[in-house]
Amino acid sequence: MTDFQRTKSLTARAVCRPSLVLPLLSLALLSACTKSVPAGSASNGQEQQTLEAGPGMGHGPGMGPGMGHGPGMGPGRGMGMMGGGHRQEMQTIHTLLARHESIRREVEDIPGGVRTLTVSESPEVAQLIREHVWQMKKRLELGQPMRRGDPLFRALFAHHDAIHLEVEEVPGGVRVEETSEDPQVVLLIRQHAHRAVNEFVEQGMPRAMQPTPLPEGYQGTP
Ligand code: HEM
Repeated sequence: MTDFQRTKSLTARAVCRPSLVLPLLSLALLSACTKSVPAGSASNGQEQQTLEAGPGMGHGPGMGPGMGHGPGMGPGRGMGMMGGGHRQEMQTIHTLLARHESIRREVEDIPGGVRTLTVSESPEVAQLIREHVWQMKKRLELGQPMRRGDPLFRALFAHHDAIHLEVEEVPGGVRVEETSEDPQVVLLIRQHAHRAVNEFVEQGMPRAMQPTPLPEGYQGTP
């Protein structure tokens, strides 16, 4: 069963527990990560709680009676801090998605990958863009996956050691060069830049709730 099928099945089970539906829908994509946080540690209402809700599909300690193999909602493995901790990373992503209209982005294909420019006229958003990219760079370097319900993100993190990500802070945000020597990984890098981040910036939260298809020509496992 794939993570998305599992999400669907978990969601179906949660229908008789409406309070679980939104968190479950959101868990798989936004917060499926190696780190978990205590349920109830959210500070900004339902959506924030959703973003922080816990680790990825099918690997957590379970939600309690009846949920069996589901995602963990409680404190779990790997709770430590990394680049501000998982909760802070998710708050940054949440704010970027909420303020997506203030973000401008350019993506250029270069040999072996992409060069991107991601900026905002808002100093606050510009700083969040920078924080997010440093945090994600660290995740890639350490091989600490997130958004594991999304096949593209699963594939990217599976190849994390073949990805080079260079960040340059520029006025309003960051310029990034992301490359690989492996042509299959180049496909993933470009798909992430063009189809994931570009669409997050264009559409915000509704897009972030959807998976990203693997790129055409990619032959690895999702
Ligand atoms: C408006 C929202 C977002 C913005 C502006 C943004 C921005 C960026 C930028 C600039 C990069 C560097 C790579 C590139 O430029 O293509 C990046 C990488 C990354 N982002 Fe985001 N992002 C957003 C949403 C998200 C979301 C919703 C997630 C996951 C829940 C996420 C996870 C990642 C990861 C894992 C990486 C490193 C993977 C890689 O670069 O291959 N981002 N993001």
